[in-house]
Amino acid sequence: MNQQLPTISGLDGIDLPVIGFGTYPMKGGTAREAVGAALQIGYRLIDSAYNYENEGSVGKAIRESGIPRDEIVLCSKLPGRHHERADALLAVEESVHRTGGDHIDLYLIHWPNPATDRFVEAWQALIEARKRGWVRHIGVSNFERTHLERLLKETGVLPAVNQIEVHPRFPQADLHQYHQDHGIITEAWGPLGRGTGLLDNPVLCDIADRHGTTSGAVALAWHLQRGVLPLPKSSSKERQAENLGAVDVNLTLEDMEQIGTLASREGRLGGDPMIHEEF
Ligand SMILES: NC(=O)c1ccc[n+]([C@@H]2O[C@H](COP(=O)([O-])OP(=O)(O)OC[C@H]3O[C@@H](n4cnc5c(N)ncnc54)[C@H](OP(=O)(O)O)[C@@H]3O)[C@@H](O)[C@H]2O)c1
Repeated sequence: MNQQLPTISGLDGIDLPVIGFGTYPMKGGTAREAVGAALQIGYRLIDSAYNYENEGSVGKAIRESGIPRDEIVLCSKLPGRHHERADALLAVEESVHRTGGDHIDLYLIHWPNPATDRFVEAWQALIEARKRGWVRHIGVSNFERTHLERLLKETGVLPAVNQIEVHPRFPQADLHQYHQDHGIITEAWGPLGRGTGLLDNPVLCDIADRHGTTSGAVALAWHLQRGVLPLPKSSSKERQAENLGAVDVNLTLEDMEQIGTLASREGRLGGDPMIHEEF
């Protein structure tokens, strides 16, 4: 497949392909090869982070792709140890240099780190980085509603994107609704359940059989039909293509409801942003 992906628009004129490519925990040649392959089959949104230590390889793959730079959306993220304003600006500048370009398209605060409580200061730094042209759009990751409300109250600026854990076992319906009410794009990390067996679930497998596709494509189509932008990671070209194929899967209302039954109180796989501190 190499079709033009539909896009989703949000605050601050942001326009993103409806599905992106995750790069964690790939580094070095593995990251460069995987991102290169993903770009060749049509992915145009690449998710990296300062802490993934792969911004250099991702940037190299983008430059080697032959695809015009303005057709690609490169995303990176600010680590918790750099929330102090001057430090945050230096971190963004370093990220830009490592990617080998002169800007990054979308830059997120990776985690709110509520005990440290400097995420508003970090947000002010990202607003400044955007003003300086180092980044085109700014957003956050792993923010709960209370953190978003503080950004709005203290800076008047809402993020264009909140990248959070979302998958059928952890659908985050309330936070996604809040995003939709405020024009914030919900990006899903761990959209396939991070290799924890979600894709072997009989509900997803039965739906996949009925549609003549795979459980991975069904899980991703569920995100797309909820208006969530998934960021599946795969080091395999075949699975990269399979995942991109989700844009052609049309789930019925009944399929969506059945997948909805997989939600669980214990569904969260990663840290709880209200207490998790990541540096
Ligand atoms: N903001 C944050 O705090 C945060 C946290 C975690 C992740 N992320 C971002 O979100 C991206 C995605 O999350 P994730 O990588 O943790 O989880 P994921 O995309 O849900 O799952 C990736 C796993 O699924 C496998 N896989 C991929 N496609 C498959 C398919 N069609 N069938 C079967 N298995 C498949 C991959 O293996 P193969 O590679 O072997 O295919 C890998 O083991 C990350 O890469 C990163 O960019 C952000």
